[in-house]
Amino acid sequence: MSGGGKNANMSCSLLCFLLSFSAMLAHAGAEVHFHEFIVQATPMKRLCRTHNIITVNGRYPGPTLAVRNGDTLVVNVVNRAKYNVTLHWHGVRQMRTAWADGPEFVTQCPIRPGGSYRYRFRIEEQEGTMWWHAHSSWLRATVHGALIVYPKRGSSYPFPHPNTEFPVILGTNSLLSLLDIYAYAWMQMISCLTGEWWNEDPVQVIRRATRSGAAPNISDAFTINGQPGDFYKCSSKDTTILPVAVGETNLLRFINAALNQELFISLAGHTMTVVAADAAYTKPFATSVLMLGPGQTTDVLITTNQPAGRYYVAARAYASAQGGPFDTTTTTAILEYSNSGGGQAFPPAFPVLPAFNDTLAATTFAAGMRSPRPVKLPGPVDHHLFFTVGLGLLSCPPNRFCAGPNGTRLAASMNNVSFQLPTRLSMLQGYHLGVPGVFTTDFPAVPPVRFDYTGSNISQALWQPERGTKVYPLKYGSVVQIVLQGTGILAGEEHPMHLHGYHFYVLATGFGNFDPRRDAARFNLVDPPFRNTVGVPVNGWAVIRFVADNPGVWLVHCHLDVHITWGLAMAFLVENGVGALQSLEPPPPDLPLC
Ligand code: C2O
Repeated sequence: MSGGGKNANMSCSLLCFLLSFSAMLAHAGAEVHFHEFIVQATPMKRLCRTHNIITVNGRYPGPTLAVRNGDTLVVNVVNRAKYNVTLHWHGVRQMRTAWADGPEFVTQCPIRPGGSYRYRFRIEEQEGTMWWHAHSSWLRATVHGALIVYPKRGSSYPFPHPNTEFPVILGTNSLLSLLDIYAYAWMQMISCLTGEWWNEDPVQVIRRATRSGAAPNISDAFTINGQPGDFYKCSSKDTTILPVAVGETNLLRFINAALNQELFISLAGHTMTVVAADAAYTKPFATSVLMLGPGQTTDVLITTNQPAGRYYVAARAYASAQGGPFDTTTTTAILEYSNSGGGQAFPPAFPVLPAFNDTLAATTFAAGMRSPRPVKLPGPVDHHLFFTVGLGLLSCPPNRFCAGPNGTRLAASMNNVSFQLPTRLSMLQGYHLGVPGVFTTDFPAVPPVRFDYTGSNISQALWQPERGTKVYPLKYGSVVQIVLQGTGILAGEEHPMHLHGYHFYVLATGFGNFDPRRDAARFNLVDPPFRNTVGVPVNGWAVIRFVADNPGVWLVHCHLDVHITWGLAMAFLVENGVGALQSLEPPPPDLPLC
């Protein structure tokens, strides 16, 4: 499963040996996994033509990394492509190792063509489905893969036992209490990465759009584990097959790796029981449809109790914005029972998928998420923040042609600041080295102007954001609550908002303008879900809370890449606390230079 990696001890000096030996004692049973990721152009045939796409190790999607909670990953990334690249480990908290987080010009300068960088980090008290992806331009379209974190040795999943024929195996670590009420499930694990495919080089698509100010071209296909499936030309012979046997309980790990599209996902003939999202367990709930924004992951259990046969897994757009063009195609994979007798005579059963604009289906699914048990919610809140998230327009520079609406350029912002990446140095390096001018520390706690955020008549005077590279500074350990308020500027749309370096509790979501008096009563202060990417409903809001216990510069952004390009981002600067355990580690010696 762990593609191409070896869990080997590298040859070491005596000192190195002693160090790793003591590290092993500190984390008994933990392993160090070494991988080499070669970023390179690779010919890949899709939709009847051969395209030269950027891959890791020649694969699309890239290799699956599989480790255990407590393990260390060392991934040497060698850039043999013609573009700058960085890799991000989506969902990994990167405690004190912000240098390995990856967003270009935020925590590191990009790895230049011909260069390399060794990402080194430990998985600390996390398990579940994560993924890794490029965090530079639009390379994420093809440079991504799954990152699966299994429970520590001797412990297991807190899932309900599907049938009685397997023994109950109790774990020995902190999950023991959960295992008292749940039991071990013996199951097969299947990763399902949904992706988004352009026939043109995605980097060229976004470069052209950035030059003109217009919206970039929509994609030509969606994919499941790299294959578009049966409903695209020249594709059906390569449709992804997910093999199962009758009478099993299977864990399906869904990852939405699409660049710009939220997706409904459904499976014919089987109920899905959601047990985790964004690498955090959830109270199990049954559903016939999932909705994942880019960046989100969802683990479901299915029981193969249907007549032997073939069943489609299908995914297509949840298009929350009104009027904008989107890719209306449907990608499929096939869940195939081993005893289906090769029954290719009949087409597989097709599931029911919600309509493209079925916001109720999307929000009902998200609202079903709860933590498995009551949580210890951090508080009292030190920073009550209110951030608008939405689109905007920038005026055209003089003597230029702009192809956005009415001769403008499309933009996006948080609290009216359209985020600009620095170019001379990464923000984290600027902070660490004390180099002034890389960013400013004046990101506003509330929007500069209050208005009817989701109204249909927003004054044009509010459509134009200012550009800036601003952080909001936080003292180590402060408790932060953010109201993420969508706006209706240009078009309301659901924004999958991702916070780097943290998981947060989602206290509530709703439609319209957030009203502290009315809506605080709706907060789930008992068992809110714990996520790293939250869908802010179209023309609505979401409230999240976290403790700033991880020093570094941490990007917050919409995971629709086109919106990051337009500036829908900001960053927190979390200061060191007291002592080494509350402080950022020193930068690795091979950290790329700008
Ligand atoms: Cu999944 Cu900033 O990324």
